[in-house]
Amino acid sequence: MEMSKTISNVPARDAAQKARPCGDGVVGENFFEVSDLKKSIGEQKILQGVDLDIRKGETMVVIGRSGEGKSVFLKHLIGLMDPDSGSILVEGKEIVGLKERQLRDVRRKVGIMFQDGALFDSMTVAENVAFPLMETGIRDRELLLERVGQALDKVELTEHMAKMPINISGGMRKRVALARAIIAEPQCILYDEPTSGLDPVVSESIDRLIRRMQKDLCVTSLVVTHDMNSVFRIADRVAYLREGKIYFLGTAQELRDSKDEYVRSFVEGRPVENVD
Ligand SMILES: Nc1ncnc2c1ncn2[C@@H]1O[C@H](COP(=O)(O)OP(=O)(O)OP(=O)(O)O)[C@@H](O)[C@H]1O
Ligand SMILES: [Mg+2]
Repeated sequence: MEMSKTISNVPARDAAQKARPCGDGVVGENFFEVSDLKKSIGEQKILQGVDLDIRKGETMVVIGRSGEGKSVFLKHLIGLMDPDSGSILVEGKEIVGLKERQLRDVRRKVGIMFQDGALFDSMTVAENVAFPLMETGIRDRELLLERVGQALDKVELTEHMAKMPINISGGMRKRVALARAIIAEPQCILYDEPTSGLDPVVSESIDRLIRRMQKDLCVTSLVVTHDMNSVFRIADRVAYLREGKIYFLGTAQELRDSKDEYVRSFVEGRPVENVD
């Protein structure tokens, strides 16, 4: 990037981040550009032409009813699932059709917190959280411990680091998955239901953490959630996935103000009346 050349000894990403505001995203610079993404599994049409751009530095929240394909969509963004057709650009580079080895670059840039945590059962909490750092080649035990301690502190789990995943609660497993997603400070973090099943106090602190990651590190975030309180706490923009497409896209305020019956019913958590 041109402007980073003038700042010596600062990695390009840091320089670029310092030079641009974070918060509402950088208009004109997209981290992801998804076009006409389609995916069926067996007979079931899941994604039926998803178009969505996610700006660098913004927090995009994806909402939608259970089973609509939100998790499936997220998995496409790092090449864990292949679409039937369509395109996914990551910082301008097509990732559809790439082989596992070619996807490594994307996976280094993008951290993901899976809906079910997806922790390694045979590793301790600390080893799980250290995993992405070890993937980057870090082997220094002291450094790993320090970074793991910091990440677990952010999710208030430092005293449980020696436990095995089976011996902690569901909510704690979720927070371990969150610490693992953020530890390597990726440029982009995908969170699949980060607060579901957590008590309101922990949920709010997780939301604050998501905002802080954005503010301090200019992280691009994509958060799937059902929790409307979370939506209004964290979203710069909201995308509503309905019947395999992005049915609504707008700011949190636009979501609140929408008169559309389907949007209203989702936001207010009630069935749609007199439509269909
Ligand atoms: N590997 C798979 N094999 C078969 N069907 C699948 C697979 N993965 C997802 N599906 C189906 O795709 C649909 C969308 O699933 P997905 O997990 O993306 O929903 P979701 O929007 O994330 O729902 P929730 O809010 O409950 O997490 C579901 O009907 C699901 O059964
Ligand atoms: Mg899901």
